Amino acid sequence: MIKHRLPFSIRNILIFLALLLSLFSTYISAQERLPGELFPPDKIFLLEEPRDWQDIEAIMGRLHIEEGNIVADIGAGSGYFTIPLASRVGDKGLVFAEDIQIEMINYLSRKVEALDLKNVRVVFGQVEDPSLLDNFFDLIFLANTYHELEKPFLILENIKKDLRYYGRFAIIDWDPAKKSPFGPSIEVKVPEYTVIKELEMTGFELVEKHNFMPYHYFLIFKKKHN
Ligand SMILES: C[S@@+](CC[C@H](N)C(=O)[O-])C[C@H]1O[C@@H](n2cnc3c(N)ncnc32)[C@H](O)[C@@H]1O
Repeated sequence: MIKHRLPFSIRNILIFLALLLSLFSTYISAQERLPGELFPPDKIFLLEEPRDWQDIEAIMGRLHIEEGNIVADIGAGSGYFTIPLASRVGDKGLVFAEDIQIEMINYLSRKVEALDLKNVRVVFGQVEDPSLLDNFFDLIFLANTYHELEKPFLILENIKKDLRYYGRFAIIDWDPAKKSPFGPSIEVKVPEYTVIKELEMTGFELVEKHNFMPYHYFLIFKKKHN
């Protein structure tokens, strides 16, 4: 009797472990894609270097920004993109420059003050929530940051909430399919199809895709309305 009961219980345990493992791997791939490290604040000077590989004019031109627009620059870092965004929206518009690292916030605040940018607000956000305003933004811009997002699904839900009905969400990030001599390691770069899948799972649809950058993809999404 005992002889027969033992293998049966072992089989049950193995089935249980297999189920647990498959649930765990689904959870890891859907919710917990391991993020890259946060960009180190002591290397902020690197974010200020001119980037011929990320042409500001070419990028701004494809964002269709109008004077008076309200824009969020999430993961603003040193504000490399905040300044050109602010000049595009003009005096009647606003740019919210948000980050989750206090060193970036301090740097951004000093820069905004030094340049006397009246149309920029600096926001100290949280990992899963940029702490912005609901249904408020014409454009949300996220550059070189997607691969650092610790909780992509939670922050995407909040971004969706902050966008206006026809608001656009632009994502530029390092493309693992394009070899680069610098930037994050290939292991932490997030493939374009993963970004598109995660955005679609959160209720966005891809509306534009630009392929002029040597190391990055550039995707523009809108909220999907049924
Ligand atoms: C590589 S820097 C890019 C800065 C800027 N966008 C640029 O392209 O120059 C990434 C920035 O994203 C910020 N970051 C990472 N995770 C974030 C999150 N969940 N919410 C907001 N900012 C985040 C980091 O603190 C860092 O300043």
